Amino acid sequence: MKVSIVYHSETGNTKKVGEIIAKGVKKVEDTEVQCMSIEEVDKEYIEDSDVVIFGTPTYAGSYSWQMKKWLDTCKLKFAGKIGSVFATENYLGGGADNAELAIISELLVKGMFVFSVGSSKGQPYTHFGPVCIKDGTEEQKERAEIFGQRVAKSAKELMNR
Ligand SMILES: Cc1cc2nc3c(=O)[nH]c(=O)nc-3n(C[C@H](O)[C@H](O)[C@H](O)COP(=O)(O)O)c2cc1C
Repeated sequence: MKVSIVYHSETGNTKKVGEIIAKGVKKVEDTEVQCMSIEEVDKEYIEDSDVVIFGTPTYAGSYSWQMKKWLDTCKLKFAGKIGSVFATENYLGGGADNAELAIISELLVKGMFVFSVGSSKGQPYTHFGPVCIKDGTEEQKERAEIFGQRVAKSAKELMNR
């Protein structure tokens, strides 16, 4: 099963968190993952992926305009794939939850099956998606890695891969 992680990152935090999530995905057998910036996406790989995980920095309490522009203009077909999200922010309560929900609404409109793991696997719960302050405390990084592993495992079961 292929998993794409697509992020926007100006100063590297969101990129680093994406790479941590990829580490978790790789722990699931027969799963491959590619982590890519919106500036350099492998469109074929994304089209072949069952899961696309989107990462964004928080900008003014929502997701970045660069990510929004990319999602609105990339012309990729996301319908029928599983979509998950993660975000970084500078301050606790800085709006990362809202950034995630805003991306989620776009994924729903694109026809994706949105999955956050939530409380389905016990602790640590991910509410809308993992959130890291800058590139994450040790605990936040661990949560991000567990999230990647859980999304991939559940997607594999669901997609019969
Ligand atoms: C234009 C702009 C707006 C931002 N707005 C917020 C915000 O509302 N809340 C917050 O906590 N951080 C905010 N930040 C900080 C970024 O979300 C944070 O540094 C993020 O980790 C940057 O990700 P990157 O290194 O992947 O670019 C903002 C940064 C920029 C450049």
